[in-house]
Amino acid sequence: MDYQEILDTIALELTTKQPRGNVATYIPELAKVSPQKFGMHLHCINSGHYCFGNSDEKFSIQSISKVFGLTLAMSLIHEDLFERVDVEPSGNPFNSLIQLEYENGIPRNPFINAGALVISDILISTLKSPKQEFLQFVQNITDNDTLKINVEVFESEKKCSYRNAALLHLMKSFGNITNDIEEVLDFYIYQCAIEMSCKELATAFMVYANRGAKLSSHEEVISPHKVKRINAIMQTCGFYDEAGEFSFRVGLPGKSGVGGGIAAIHPNQYAVTVWSPLLNPKGNSELGMYALERLTTLTGLSIF
Ligand code: DON
Repeated sequence: MDYQEILDTIALELTTKQPRGNVATYIPELAKVSPQKFGMHLHCINSGHYCFGNSDEKFSIQSISKVFGLTLAMSLIHEDLFERVDVEPSGNPFNSLIQLEYENGIPRNPFINAGALVISDILISTLKSPKQEFLQFVQNITDNDTLKINVEVFESEKKCSYRNAALLHLMKSFGNITNDIEEVLDFYIYQCAIEMSCKELATAFMVYANRGAKLSSHEEVISPHKVKRINAIMQTCGFYDEAGEFSFRVGLPGKSGVGGGIAAIHPNQYAVTVWSPLLNPKGNSELGMYALERLTTLTGLSIF
């Protein structure tokens, strides 16, 4: 199959589409990103790299970092993490407070904000230098020790993190947050502020396509048994109240972020990433979802 030709077809189709959606504005620094940006990178296990557009430009990975946080926690902790966070789709927006009150402070899954805040709390209790060790983990799976956070995005989110603070207070009232609220919030926002390009993100996500091992060195980052579970949570919960729609249209496990990025994988075949900052009302990249839908349609390679 000529993957570059398929990507070029998608690039051409995108030029005919009217840009729809809005850049995220609730984190003021993200509102400064040009809505015209579009990048796509496909990394196939057997045949290498294909890309187009702004695929080498860095963007804020935001909630895509929740996959890395969960992976690090699951690689370190052997007792059951899933007593403090469930694995059910939420059917609610990523920053919703409603279910948490009904469900006694146990988040529906690790990929909504409440769930990632619990994972951050667990990592703080487990790691000596959480920020440094988290960054090193992402650098390792990306084979790039220059990766860093965008300080402006980090500071910008810190100034307006009212809902995440509310989620933490509510969960602490139920006894599901053990560390200091400010410390957990700070670490969570740090993870979201990491910047990566589509190419770097596709390299990192190869771990999920390649049974938990890095493709470059074959180092096992997480066991195949655990990566199977992470991929299952991406499939059912990676897109909040649009997880069904993403499954229906694209048919891959994936994760989105309000920076406009999406990373998705086909086990044993490929990792693919897209970046387009205009978000639909559910907070997922409008054109990013379109491009991935076209990829799995034109290649015939979805998991279904
Ligand atoms: O906590 C937040 O609201 C952001 N730092 C991340 C949210 C996000 O990326 C949701 N994804 N689509």
